[in-house]
Amino acid sequence: MTLYSRVRPLAFKLPAETAHDLGKRTLRAAQSTWPTRNALAAAYQYDHPALEVDLFGTTFPNPVGVAAGFDKNAEVTHALEALGFGFVEIGTVTPYPQSGNDRPRLFRLREDEAMINRMGFNGQGMERVKSRLETDGTPGFPLGVNIGKMNSSSESEAIEDYRRVFDRLSPFADYVVVNVSCPNTPEEFDEGSPEHLRAIFEMLEAENDADKPILVKIGPDSPDDSILDLVDIVQEFGLDGIVATNTSTTRDGLESPNQEEWGGLSGKPVEDRSTAVIRTIAEYTDGDVPIIGVGGVDSAGAAYEKIRAGASLVELYTGFVYEGPSTAKRINQGLVELLERDGFASIEDAVGAGLE
Ligand SMILES: Cc1cc2nc3c(=O)[nH]c(=O)nc-3n(C[C@H](O)[C@H](O)[C@H](O)COP(=O)(O)O)c2cc1C
Repeated sequence: MTLYSRVRPLAFKLPAETAHDLGKRTLRAAQSTWPTRNALAAAYQYDHPALEVDLFGTTFPNPVGVAAGFDKNAEVTHALEALGFGFVEIGTVTPYPQSGNDRPRLFRLREDEAMINRMGFNGQGMERVKSRLETDGTPGFPLGVNIGKMNSSSESEAIEDYRRVFDRLSPFADYVVVNVSCPNTPEEFDEGSPEHLRAIFEMLEAENDADKPILVKIGPDSPDDSILDLVDIVQEFGLDGIVATNTSTTRDGLESPNQEEWGGLSGKPVEDRSTAVIRTIAEYTDGDVPIIGVGGVDSAGAAYEKIRAGASLVELYTGFVYEGPSTAKRINQGLVELLERDGFASIEDAVGAGLE
């Protein structure tokens, strides 16, 4: 029995966001001194050469990262590194602070190993995030920065929002993600329309003197042909990759009473659709566009399936909540076993191995 399996029933008695805040405060305290940070690393880090992934001009020590939304304000990047993750995507960061939607806005669906959230881009804004990255220092593993617009922004103001956050935070980032797929922010216009996406990418192309890798994060709910239209635009602009996928507005086959809540569904119920989106993109592009796979990853098997479907890296949020601090270590140990079983020398050799 792990410590987390004893702590989890207590944490799950608290409202989900309260438990999340408490968990983050614990991680922030743990990362603030070297002895506690080193103790976490000694307990949870697992290194193996087969796990290393060279991508976006940097080396990921392993392919298992923390998805956007967990550490919106870059408060616990060092603790997440000590817990054995291979990278973290902070954000979504907006230009100014935003309080998001009213609480409660985060719900567990225990029977479904899922969550529903309608946080609505709550965050401290880019200046706080920038000064925290300066004060704390960037972590020793790759850092992704997920950027978004203010909820109140019009279509043209949104372009300016992305420009501001990109300029402020891209110097700290190993890769930047444009998030146009949040299902729980007010939509005054169609964020995913080809015209709007082109306007964003044109602006970023002009701003990106340092040649930072830029990716776009997509949702799981659009039909495949709309997803492929977006992939065409990604290729037209020579973007560096796609994060697939964000949360879902579907509710098929759920058991938990909390399925009635509105917001984005994450965890096990989105796993298969997310993997299918990864496969569709990888097949369409012949593996030429790197994919970060996210949605329902909570085990080595789930991570491996996304990698075989074409993901070069995976990320998770809900699986971390359900499985606790040893999540990354367990997944990475399991991945090494799966690679050995199937005769792959490295993760990179297994990327897309399950495609026709
Ligand atoms: C509480 C919560 C907040 C999230 N906030 C963001 C966010 O700010 N930006 C973003 O791109 N994705 C956000 N996500 C989506 C996750 O990054 C991820 O795409 C999704 O949860 C599917 O992964 P999972 O099944 O491992 O949770 C959030 C997810 C949750 C559960």
